[in-house]
Formats: sequence, C-alpha cells, structure tokens
Amino acid sequence: MMESVDIRPLTLHDDIETVASFARDVWNEYYIPLIGRAQVDYMLGRFQSAGAIREQLDSGYEYFVVRRSGALIGYLSVKPEPAAGELFISKLYLHKSSRGSGTGRRCMEFIEQLARQRGLTRLWLTVNKGNPSVRVYERLGFRIAADVVIDIGSGFVMDDYRMEKVLRSTESEAHPAGAQ
Ligand SMILES: CC(C)(COP(=O)(O)OP(=O)(O)OC[C@H]1O[C@@H](n2cnc3c(N)ncnc32)[C@H](O)[C@@H]1OP(=O)(O)O)[C@@H](O)C(=O)NCCC(=O)NCCS
Repeated sequence: MMESVDIRPLTLHDDIETVASFARDVWNEYYIPLIGRAQVDYMLGRFQSAGAIREQLDSGYEYFVVRRSGALIGYLSVKPEPAAGELFISKLYLHKSSRGSGTGRRCMEFIEQLARQRGLTRLWLTVNKGNPSVRVYERLGFRIAADVVIDIGSGFVMDDYRMEKVLRSTESEAHPAGAQ
C-alpha cells in the first residue's frame, strides 16, 4: 500500500527557499520541453522565486507542501475568491518520482475539501494547452471552459485553457457542523 501523504500549510515563517528550490527543479524538468528554457527562467523568476512566493502569501494565496515519509514531494497553491464563490488553483506540482500513483488525486481531494470548508462551489485553474496534465484534470472532473492567452511580459505569452470543476453539494455541506 502507498504510504499516505501529508499536506501542510506553508507560512511566512517556514522555509520558503526550500520550496522555491524544489519548484525550480520540477519546473526545469517538466516545462523546458513544453515552453522552452527562456520562458521557464522568466516565469520562475516572476512567480516562483522565494520573494514571489512571499508576496503571494501576503496577498491571498495559500501554499501547501506535500510530503511523504517526511520528504518534500510536491506543493500546491490556491486562492479563495469568495465574491465569485470560487477557488483558484494556482499551482499543483509533484516531483517526477511521485506522479502517476494517485497523489495528484489525493491533492485534489484536499483542495476540494478546502473549498467546501470555505463555502466555495467551483474550482478553476489554467493549464498550458500542450500540457498532458489537461487529461489528468479531465479525469479528475474538470472541463475545459475557455481559451486563455495571457501576455506575461518580456515577449512571453501563456497559451492556456481555463478548466473548471463545479463541486456538488455533499453530506458535509448539508451538515456543516464539522466544517471550520
Ligand atoms: C498533474 C499532477 C499534479 C497529477 O498528479 P498525479 O499524481 O500524477 O496524478 P494521479 O496519479 O493522482 O492521477 C489522477 C488521475 O488522472 C489519470 N491520469 C494520469 N495521467 C493521465 C494521462 N496522461 N492521461 C489520462 N489520464 C491520466 C489517473 O489515471 C488518475 O485517474 P484515476 O484515479 O481515475 O485512475 C502531476 O502529474 C504533476 O505534477 N505533473 C507535472 C506538473 C504539472 O503539469 N502540473 C500541473 C500544472 S497546471
């Protein structure tokens, strides 16, 4: 049986450098074949440096680190958008050696639970159109809702799909006593 994963919040008091360094390794391994080294370097600097993560933590983004047997195997980041009733999934990255064995599904269950606890009814994310993870998200109940082409400066463009998942009400929502 696969050992269970541990998903914990990352706070401004934690070791953010280690997460930024992990992000650098995963993005270099995964994204260079998809979008090229120049755009990966640019995006890492803008969005996943330790400084950028600190700024996001200060502006409504919540980060969580995923560990198995104490080892860092992934991270995720979400932003609640209460006015829209939505939770934006900004990041979800697992180390290569931890993909394809159910951890991503486990992380998505965690995210769904978080959304329900906050009274949010829809998850959304953007994903590069050429990223095979589009299929994973479909498998996890998301559907492609729109094309999103975003100019991120310095001549780079994110050519993404917006994907969405509507959360159906559950027993825990009908009886919110246990919710926080
Ligand atoms: C995307 C990611 C988080 C998914 O996590 P994972 O642990 O690999 O996914 P799981 O093993 O839990 O698989 C989830 C579901 O997708 C299915 N799946 C996995 N790969 C698939 C593929 N290439 N095509 C179709 N379905 C696939 C699985 O069978 C599973 O469905 P099931 O539980 O009904 O069998 C992980 O692969 C990852 O970090 N990828 C690289 C980075 C990335 O692309 N992140 C997303 C950026 S937007």
